Amino acid sequence: MTSRTIKASAQPLKGSYVPPGDKSLSHRAVMFGSLSEGISTYKGFLASEDCLHTLAAFQKMGVNAALEGDVLKVHGVGLQGLSEPNEELYLGNSGTSIRLILGILAGQRFEAILSGDPSLSSRPMKRVTEPLKQMGAQIKGKDNGNFAPLRIRGGKLKGIDYENHLGSAQVKSALLFAGLYADGKTRIHDMLRSRDHSERFLLSSGASLLVKDDWIEISRTEKLIGLNGQIPGDISSAAFFIAAAAMTPGSELTVKNVCLNPTRMGILNVLKKMGAHFEIEQSGVIPEPYGTLKVFGGRLKGTRIEKMEIPAVIDELPVIMVLMALAEGESIISGAEELRVKETDRIASMTKNLNAAGARVEELPDGCIIRGIASLKGGHAESFFDHRTVMSMAIASLRMEGDLHIDETACVSTSYPSFFSDFERLTGSTIL
Ligand code: S3P
Repeated sequence: MTSRTIKASAQPLKGSYVPPGDKSLSHRAVMFGSLSEGISTYKGFLASEDCLHTLAAFQKMGVNAALEGDVLKVHGVGLQGLSEPNEELYLGNSGTSIRLILGILAGQRFEAILSGDPSLSSRPMKRVTEPLKQMGAQIKGKDNGNFAPLRIRGGKLKGIDYENHLGSAQVKSALLFAGLYADGKTRIHDMLRSRDHSERFLLSSGASLLVKDDWIEISRTEKLIGLNGQIPGDISSAAFFIAAAAMTPGSELTVKNVCLNPTRMGILNVLKKMGAHFEIEQSGVIPEPYGTLKVFGGRLKGTRIEKMEIPAVIDELPVIMVLMALAEGESIISGAEELRVKETDRIASMTKNLNAAGARVEELPDGCIIRGIASLKGGHAESFFDHRTVMSMAIASLRMEGDLHIDETACVSTSYPSFFSDFERLTGSTIL
């Protein structure tokens, strides 16, 4: 059990900051590297617990993959080269690992068992297991394959048409992986435009993939080519300090080497609507666009976020709720029911913690209404064992009168192991 007390400092955030490697890209680097021919090398790999679980799972399926510093080197075994693991694939807290690996295993001719921690074991898997079963995979688990542990036996698959009505990139990616193995076409209607990292990897690796507006079509693919690339910084991790800088007058924070994929930049659109000032400079595409972001602090005003905008801010909504709690006027988030099935129910966890700190948050089934106030009060916040709830409340502490004690903070390691040291350095706060 690790808990922390934050003695927050209200000083502006200055200087520059390089966020940790992107989590979504690090998972995919292991997966695509493993399924490709030849060696793939990626600099900037995020060695967080979630991504290390993905790495260990592929090692258990016979892939020679290793980390040297932040460089990931994977000796690809090809689409047909994975071997049956002789132990369970334990994926900890990681929804991305379990759902994407299910899609890959649907195409393998062996059996595997996937498991996770209590939070992962209570998250819905039917969204992936149902369409994979329709494609031909055999999957068993509690409530008809809705909860881990899951036993999967892949085999001969056929393509399906699928409406990605949840706006989930995890579901879309699982079906794209399965589509690599399926006879016929797998067509996905991604009307809410979830993050497109898998499509970018597939196109660069030579898969038979077509993307037209919000339709994606994949056909059986014989081989993928190994890639060498650089994983830029994670905008979802940087979001905590982007938010801190934006809400603190006098801040001037330069965020370097951050991923600027448009499907991930919803936080910047929201900040713009809230009246924040920032500058973006794109440096290149390797293969994801990346660059530098300069954020200037000021007073923010309330705004609305609706369903179409949700996938591009899904992981940033907890810290956006902090910004809204401290903004001028009223804010509304709607169409965000997916937030209830993340590592914890984040609408509930953030509402409870912010209201305990004196905020005015009213929970809705699919979001919340927040009436902004000028400052919060310290006290106690519950982690709910959720990394983003903890990090969001740490940012909220910057505008609290009094210290904030957060219980069970070790979970930040699932996505951002160095969060608290970056927090102390960038905000000048002290953590006990
Ligand atoms: C992810 C997709 C998102 C996001 C998660 C990472 C991915 O989940 O919340 O942190 O890498 O594909 P959903 O697409 O299921 O909402």
